[in-house]
Amino acid sequence: MRTIIEPFRIKMTEPLKITTRAQREEALEAAHHNVFLLDAEDCCIDLLTDSGTGAMSAQQWAAMMLGDESYAGSRSWKRFESAVGEITGMPNILPTHQGRAAEGILAECILKPGDIVPNNSHFDTTRANIEYRGATALNLPCAEAFDTQVAAPFKGNMDVEALSACIAEHGRDKIPFAMVTVTNNTGGGQPVSMANLRAVKDVLSEHQIPLIIDACRFAENAYFVRQREGGYADRPLMEIAQEMFSLADGATMSCKKDGLANIGGFLVCRNGEWALQFRNLGILREGFPTYGGLAGRDLEAIAVGLHEALDFDYQVYRHATVEYMVDRLTALGIPMVLPAGGHAVFLDARAMLPEMQQLSYPGIGIVNALYLAGGVRAVELGSVMFGHFDNDGVEQPSPLELVRLAFPRRVYTQSHFDYLIEVIEEVWNERAKISGHRITQQTEILRHFTCHFEPVPTAS
Ligand SMILES: Cc1ncc(COP(=O)(O)O)c(C=O)c1O
Repeated sequence: MRTIIEPFRIKMTEPLKITTRAQREEALEAAHHNVFLLDAEDCCIDLLTDSGTGAMSAQQWAAMMLGDESYAGSRSWKRFESAVGEITGMPNILPTHQGRAAEGILAECILKPGDIVPNNSHFDTTRANIEYRGATALNLPCAEAFDTQVAAPFKGNMDVEALSACIAEHGRDKIPFAMVTVTNNTGGGQPVSMANLRAVKDVLSEHQIPLIIDACRFAENAYFVRQREGGYADRPLMEIAQEMFSLADGATMSCKKDGLANIGGFLVCRNGEWALQFRNLGILREGFPTYGGLAGRDLEAIAVGLHEALDFDYQVYRHATVEYMVDRLTALGIPMVLPAGGHAVFLDARAMLPEMQQLSYPGIGIVNALYLAGGVRAVELGSVMFGHFDNDGVEQPSPLELVRLAFPRRVYTQSHFDYLIEVIEEVWNERAKISGHRITQQTEILRHFTCHFEPVPTAS
């Protein structure tokens, strides 16, 4: 059959509130034109993030009923440890309440002011945790990552030559570890090839620099490797994932993505001394090392979810959804990051609104237009999220102005996606009316979550 169906049926439903444009205008005004500040029930299709927003399976709910809530050494911890250990092969496993907690512990234990951490692209929380320690989070994506239109198979790769140059310039002592984010969320959900991971590992090994994988979407990356990289076509996703982790010295993970859970994360490593430091700080920040800020039932849901994420039919369906969206939107002439990424569609806001200056935040204009047109909540990945102020206090834009429509796992059906295409088409057809925005209130760190905007005329 040509049609790839959702490999599940629905046993429980949740109502969606259908709003009018006037209601949405009122809601957006009250949220200071920042969709993070909207009430979720005012969003008809909520694509703000794929993080923690997925639907759990019957097996996960059943496992949760077996949750052992003992403070230390629970059965649920054993199941979690065994699942994480099987996939990552790492001897030291620390559960955390989510990914950023793992990043925070890693950064606080290992980094000192002046250090440098290269990555293909740091996610915003990873960058913030590194910068909070006075270190520099350095993005070294491959050249194709900057061209949204080139259809290279592994646009999430790291620029290995730039990594070597970075080590030559700063020296090993300034680089306590390097990271690779799979898939590269910030760069469009694009995958990293095994060959690139191996090349990165080789360069780092020469200088005894540990490699940490940001593993949030490790299963989606494993699927891409199977589909796009020679020699992996017949390999089970579990084996591909194990091979990826075998190249690393540690990993941070948000189980809210490919753990198919609503909360949770972990930090794993091979180095026993690091593990000791992580465990001690983990006790202070997250709780005893066998629960790490999670209930026993959460550990159970993650143990099952990590395996379900590696189910081949699940990944076929998940990737088919993204490809369907990209194909349909491309046919309408809408510019976006190509080829399809793993968990989201990334509209190219700069190409959609070429007349608008970057510091008028074209991505925010598109995000707000999507909400007003159809109650769709997306997120800007552009100059609001990734711009920065230089040493003279002048705001510098981000290299890309993207709008991410992230797909919660196992939540929306085909007709939701068809509706979404109609909403995007309307925004595209009416793009001449989209205004720029000005920030009227912001914080120093992670400003996009809470800042206030006001619309300004397009030409400014
Ligand atoms: C690549 C990447 N790293 C880290 C994180 C942080 O994970 P969490 O939201 O669980 O703190 C995210 C979350 O979206 C992410 O996409």
